[in-house]
Amino acid sequence: MSVAVAVEGALKVYPGPPAPVHALGPLDLAIAPGSFVALLGPSGCGKSTLLSMIAGLEPPSRGRIAIDGRPVAGPQTAIGIVFQSPVLVDWRDVLGNVLLQADLRGLDRRALEPRARALLRSVGLEGFLHRRPWELSGGMQQRAAFCRALVHDPPLVLMDEPLGALDAMTREQLRADLERLWMRTGKTVILVTHSIEEAVQLSDRVIVISPRPGRIVRDLPVELPRPRTLEVCESPPFHALVAEIKRIFQGYGLL
Ligand SMILES: Nc1ncnc2c1ncn2[C@@H]1O[C@H](COP(=O)(O)OP(=O)(O)OP(=O)(O)O)[C@@H](O)[C@H]1O
Ligand SMILES: [Mg+2]
Repeated sequence: MSVAVAVEGALKVYPGPPAPVHALGPLDLAIAPGSFVALLGPSGCGKSTLLSMIAGLEPPSRGRIAIDGRPVAGPQTAIGIVFQSPVLVDWRDVLGNVLLQADLRGLDRRALEPRARALLRSVGLEGFLHRRPWELSGGMQQRAAFCRALVHDPPLVLMDEPLGALDAMTREQLRADLERLWMRTGKTVILVTHSIEEAVQLSDRVIVISPRPGRIVRDLPVELPRPRTLEVCESPPFHALVAEIKRIFQGYGLL
């Protein structure tokens, strides 16, 4: 099997002061290219730390991480990142914000513009290309942030609770957008989420992480049909998976 992301014996201890914090690991994980993987675990279990290590923004204290077989030794450029808040800049319009990716990476803006427009169209923002971020709703801003993370066509996209700041209805809509974008583009996606339903709805595989120090306690395949329509999300197999994960967290006294 080819592996898009390999995590081998990765462990992270933040040295302090005041005292060292063993954030997560040791942890082993192999992620297949083109798969959609959810990292699900309680607050403080090291999910963001793991994403930072994969992105090369934070070195592991022990172990190794590789992307497409190459060891991660510093900030990675062939990735897209989406955070909880959209982080758009006010002095650029929506299209300009998506193309910021090109400017930051020294890529040809003109060459990427058609792709930026196509991505924005696919999430219903074609009528807002020249609006400024403050003229958009929170959900629209986050859709623009998805487009920015994808415009340079990275094979790997890391998302840290991208829907966490949105209201329930917008979150549902964006889950559908996210699944559609993923089905269209075939990227490898690693999604951090607190929501059990979201993890099961969106991913091919849910990695359940224990409280700190985070370790993998379950690696659950999600073999539900796509797209994950309302019918799929109301089906007995969907509910069975959600219940199975709830029982794991119950065992930790978290639910
Ligand atoms: N830069 C840092 N320096 C020191 N400690 C840190 C740093 N970043 C994270 N930690 C600690 O590491 C642990 C894991 O943090 P992390 O942010 O990875 O958790 P998380 O699973 O993403 O939590 P949440 O779901 O709340 O976002 C926490 O105890 C946190 O205090
Ligand atoms: Mg986090």
